[in-house]
Amino acid sequence: MGLLLVFLVAVLSVDAEGGKILWGTESKPHSRPYMAFINFYDSKLVVKRCGGFLVEKDIVMTAAHCNGSNINVTLGAHNIKKQKNTQLIPVREAKPHKDFNSVTLVNDIMLLKLEHKAQLSSTVKTIALPKSQDWVKPGQVCTVAGWGNLANCTLSKTLQEVNLEVQTGQMCHSMSKTYNNSIQLCVGNPNEKKATARGDSGGPFVCNGVAQGIVSYSLCTGTPPRVFTRISSFIPWIQKTMKLLQQP
Ligand SMILES: *[C@@H]1O[C@H](CO)[C@@H](O)[C@H](O)[C@H]1NC(C)=O
Ligand SMILES: *[C@@H]1O[C@H](CO)[C@@H](O)[C@H](O)[C@H]1NC(C)=O
Ligand SMILES: *[C@@H]1O[C@H](CO)[C@@H](O)[C@H](O)[C@H]1NC(C)=O
Ligand SMILES: *[C@@H]1O[C@H](CO)[C@@H](O)[C@H](O)[C@H]1NC(C)=O
Repeated sequence: MGLLLVFLVAVLSVDAEGGKILWGTESKPHSRPYMAFINFYDSKLVVKRCGGFLVEKDIVMTAAHCNGSNINVTLGAHNIKKQKNTQLIPVREAKPHKDFNSVTLVNDIMLLKLEHKAQLSSTVKTIALPKSQDWVKPGQVCTVAGWGNLANCTLSKTLQEVNLEVQTGQMCHSMSKTYNNSIQLCVGNPNEKKATARGDSGGPFVCNGVAQGIVSYSLCTGTPPRVFTRISSFIPWIQKTMKLLQQP
């Protein structure tokens, strides 16, 4: 699947290496009903895409680097070119983490308040968030899904998914001094040809039905591991921000 995301400019060179971003498989349609397809305009008014996930009827979680203007969320999608039976809902308010650093990408988490509540159905559902003490460990294998780049560097029309293994914090720290294992996850075995890609940013890393990570960025080597936001470290921020967003 496509993977990664993130820092779009930096990732261009990764994609340009060719053949390094690897294969996942197409998700069974609507098997991940919490998935949100996100479109927004970046500061140059270019339309960008990200993934996200529904955590309340009217709140989607994604990466802070997916902030922009005119953000729209599509729920219930599989092939994003087919809008039948999907729910397209504009975002009323975006709340990126106040300590998000757009250079190091620490605190890459954002909540989006939708213009109205989603209609829950068999194809649109919320996903559970972890508790503060739920610590994802190296060796654990979880799944990430997205509409990001495929191995041939074209954006996917259909939702793709891939299983990735959590690595030790030292592995990412050795490649990036700003990696902080208490708030981030180091994901993807460098010996396996599987990873996230451009356009997958903001999507959930799901372990046993719980969203434990948010696709954040790739390291300069291009190959896995990648860095994801560790959701369990942000529970107080999430609770506080949701309360703010739920005020009428
Ligand atoms: C979001 O939807 C609104 C209303 O349909 C549209 O005007 C806007 O261009 C859309 N934003 C993006 C990024 O496509
Ligand atoms: C999010 O993006 C919008 C549009 O570019 C901008 O106005 C807003 O200030 C951004 N939010 C933060 C907290 O940076
Ligand atoms: C890229 O790969 C996908 C999936 O295999 C395929 O559907 C698509 O046509 C390919 N695009 C190009 C430009 O080769
Ligand atoms: C890692 O993040 C935590 C939580 O934000 C912070 O308290 C700690 O100082 C950070 N560690 C480093 C080495 O930056």
